[in-house]
Amino acid sequence: MLETFLNKVTLGDSQKLMNEIPNDSINLIITSPPYFLCRLYGNETIGREENPLDYIQNLLSFTKEFKRILHKEGSFYLNIGDVYFGTKGFSRNKGKYSRKTDVHYLEHKIAKPDGKYLQYKQLLMIPERVAIGMQEQGWILRNKIIWEKPNPVPSYSKDRRYPVYEHIFHFVKSRKYYFDLQKAKELNHHRDIIRNGIEPFKEHQASFPLSLIKPLISITSKEGDIVFDPFLGSGTTAVASILQNRKFIGFEISPDFCKIAEQRILETFLLPESVKKAYNPIREEIFMFNEKLNQYKKNA
Ligand SMILES: C[S@@+](CC[C@H](N)C(=O)[O-])C[C@H]1O[C@@H](n2cnc3c(N)ncnc32)[C@H](O)[C@@H]1O
Repeated sequence: MLETFLNKVTLGDSQKLMNEIPNDSINLIITSPPYFLCRLYGNETIGREENPLDYIQNLLSFTKEFKRILHKEGSFYLNIGDVYFGTKGFSRNKGKYSRKTDVHYLEHKIAKPDGKYLQYKQLLMIPERVAIGMQEQGWILRNKIIWEKPNPVPSYSKDRRYPVYEHIFHFVKSRKYYFDLQKAKELNHHRDIIRNGIEPFKEHQASFPLSLIKPLISITSKEGDIVFDPFLGSGTTAVASILQNRKFIGFEISPDFCKIAEQRILETFLLPESVKKAYNPIREEIFMFNEKLNQYKKNA
């Protein structure tokens, strides 16, 4: 059953698709779910709840399944950002300051302030609350990595400091798991603060920087392992996996993003030999895109 998904982008709701994945079969999960009321993607099943606490519960229903399918020596990296109550989707800007998301949220019901947790200007501590929920599910938190961005998307305010980092939680499900500390040192990924610029990608509003994801893969998985991203977006995790001789599984609910991801994956397969060598040669067994590849060549 796993074979159906291997080295492919699969369109659909990852919560449903995951039912088809056997227990303990995935070596590494790397993902970034839609953040709470931040961006409008279109078909997402998470990130548009009325109340942040519902968002957290929704996300925890995904992490429960991740734990089931993760190999006992595997790892899970969760990249998740925070939000202030009363900003982004809450702001409902009109006129020239409005953004695409605001137009949507003009129609969207949101929780009313309660004078306690839900207060305007409150930093909601969503990443920490999710991580605590995951500990309750039995996950073991190994690192709370601070991803510091030298070039963050500006979020200025007159009465607070500028946010310049996001969390990447490294979770495992058992005490013995694969981790190459030597490799981490070589790649300067052995400390829990990682400085890495964002790499804006015009086709997706919130893509991972490839330079951030590649080291995570080489430190916590082996060649030939299966890397899974349940919120694949533009396909960065898949590209990083191919470049390092790992297999990948990618689920994405938006047909447009699926196409973008497939195109990027195809381009990775088509990289000139010299570039591929610099990255690591791609192994024969992951050439599952052969048909498309031939088609592409014919049309080129
Ligand atoms: C933050 S983006 C991920 C970006 C990705 N890391 C990249 O490098 O491009 C989250 C993605 O999750 C997708 N998504 C939302 N709900 C989903 C679901 N239930 N199943 C699969 N994908 C979903 C959205 O369409 C969006 O592309």
